[in-house]
Order: sequence, then C-alpha cells, then structure tokens
Amino acid sequence: MVTTSYWSGYPHVISADQFGKSWLLDALFPAAERMVELVKLPVGERPQPLAGMGLYNLFYRESTRTRARFSRAMQLLGGTVEGTEDAEAFSSAKKGETLEDTIRTICSLLYDVIVIRHHEEGSAAKAAQASFGAPIINAGDGSGEHPTQALLDLYTIFREFGRIDGLSIALVGDLNRGRTVRSLARLLAKFDGVTVYMVSPSPLAMREDVKEYLRAHDTKYFELLDLREVAPLVHSVYLTRSQEERPVAGATTRVEIAARFDQRQPGQPDPLYGLNEEILELLQDHAIIMHPLPRNDVFGELPSRFTEEPRVRIFHQVTNGLYISMALLVLALAPQ
Ligand code: NCD
Repeated sequence: MVTTSYWSGYPHVISADQFGKSWLLDALFPAAERMVELVKLPVGERPQPLAGMGLYNLFYRESTRTRARFSRAMQLLGGTVEGTEDAEAFSSAKKGETLEDTIRTICSLLYDVIVIRHHEEGSAAKAAQASFGAPIINAGDGSGEHPTQALLDLYTIFREFGRIDGLSIALVGDLNRGRTVRSLARLLAKFDGVTVYMVSPSPLAMREDVKEYLRAHDTKYFELLDLREVAPLVHSVYLTRSQEERPVAGATTRVEIAARFDQRQPGQPDPLYGLNEEILELLQDHAIIMHPLPRNDVFGELPSRFTEEPRVRIFHQVTNGLYISMALLVLALAPQ
C-alpha cells in the first residue's frame, strides 16, 4: 500500500525539502521498481493507470531530458501529453499574461497535472498557489530547485549501493547556480551518516541556504577547491556544468572564474572541477560518476572520451528518471 500522506492538499512537487526518508524508501523507490517491471511487459499487456488523464508541459526555458522524461512517463502510463516548449514565445506570456492566469487556464481545461520550468526562483510555488485541481511539478525554477532531477539522482545512487545512509558524495562545479545540486543536497540531508563534499571555485560555492539546511539536519559537509583531495573517499562524484546563462557578479564563465581565482588558464582542462585520467585513477572501483546533463564540451567537466567509462552513469540516470517520473505521476494521480 503506497501513501501520499506527506502531501497536504494537492500532491505538488515543489522542493526536495518536502520529501522524508521513509516516504522515499517505502513509497517512491518501491513505486519506481514497479515501473521498471511495468515497462518490461509487452506493449499490449501494460497496465494503463492514467488512461484518460492529461499532462500539460509548461516550459518557459529550454529542456531536453526533463520534458521528454515526463512526456514519455505519461504516455507509458496511458495518459496524454500537451504543452509548449517555449512558453515565452508561444503562449500568452508574450502578451503579458501572468503565470497565475496561465495556470488557471490550464486547470480550467481539466488537465490533471502540470509540469513547469520557469526562469524565476519561486515560480513553481507561485504556480501551485494558483492551481486548482492539478498538481504542479517543478521541473526547474531559475537557480532555485529541480526536485525531480534530485529524486532520480538519489534513486540512481540507491540502486547502485542499496542504501543512502553512510555514503559520501562529492558535488562538483557550479554549486551556486546549479539547481540540481541544491535539491540533491537537501535530499541527502534526510539520510543518516551522509558526508557531502562540495567542490567548486569559491565564487560558485554552494549558497548559504543549502549549507544552513545541511547543518540543521546534522549532515557533515566540507567545502574544497580540488576534487583530487576527496576523489579516493567518495561513492559518487556528481559533476555539473557551469550555468553560464546565469552570470554571477564580476565573472561570466567558470573557466574565467577558475582562471581568476585558482590560476587556471581559460581553455585548459580543469582537473579541479571535472573528470580527467588522474581523477579516474584516484576514484575507487565501485564509485560512480554522475552528471544531470547537459554536459558542456567546451568547458569539459565530463569529456566525451569518458562516455564509455564503466563507472559513468549519466544515461542510467536518464532511464532511472523515467521510472521516477512514472512513479511520481502514479502516486500523485492514481494512489492506491
Ligand atoms: C539541469 C537543469 O536544467 O537544471 N538539466 C536537467 O534538467 N537534467 C542541469 C543543467 O541545466 O545544467
């Protein structure tokens, strides 16, 4: 028997903060396992628990994986998908309509769930306030959070090690503007004995709100400048790209920032915040290498030549994300 009892009102997914350890382990992950089994069935024999239901993808910013993931998840569960991939250009936002009115319109059309990606932090919460009848799923709100990416990341780690308690995870790169790491750190804080190493150039360090969250949950964390220091210690290295579409004061690219603060030269490979042969050598055999994607080949935090490296899990993450999205949709829309 699954439970949605942690949800009050509609089962919105806004922040990683809303999920507790027992719900993750006893409801979400088992539901995701059922989805693994469901997709193994021949097409005609798959149950369709969301038949007749509709998902609306409301994307104000670009997306490859998250939008396709929720679309595919809904289709596999028998539901239908509609939406816009560039709401700023192709919705009434261009005519000045508020986010709230757009949400009210979609709800008025009796959609069952809305997946939203928006450039402003806090926009998903704002959408949830305006929604009636349809859960809102935050697919990324500016530099705020990306809770469903963090859920699939956590599930990937869980499938690999059979637990989260006691693991050591390195979050690497642009921790200031990267929303996936901001959500993942919050999820990790729900578990016991986890150690989080935060490896970034100083101007791109994790923001205080997340560090405060880790402290409040008694989660051990360390901030450092060089991945080599912790590579031998960790179960997972979680790499991120520089979020250059969101400039920080005084520096535009991570290469420039690294050059300025850590004596790196732009264009040189950066062993401090990315993968290279030296880091691969230092990592334990059972350690896994993760990245939310897209990776940035110019900066090169996870160069293409390592795609086939056996410890790299980047496309496993994508498939695990399909199972997690299906599980979230079923738990929200067809709980037993
Ligand atoms: C991430 C995002 O959009 O925050 N991508 C994703 O959804 N997998 C990561 C990023 O853009 O760097």
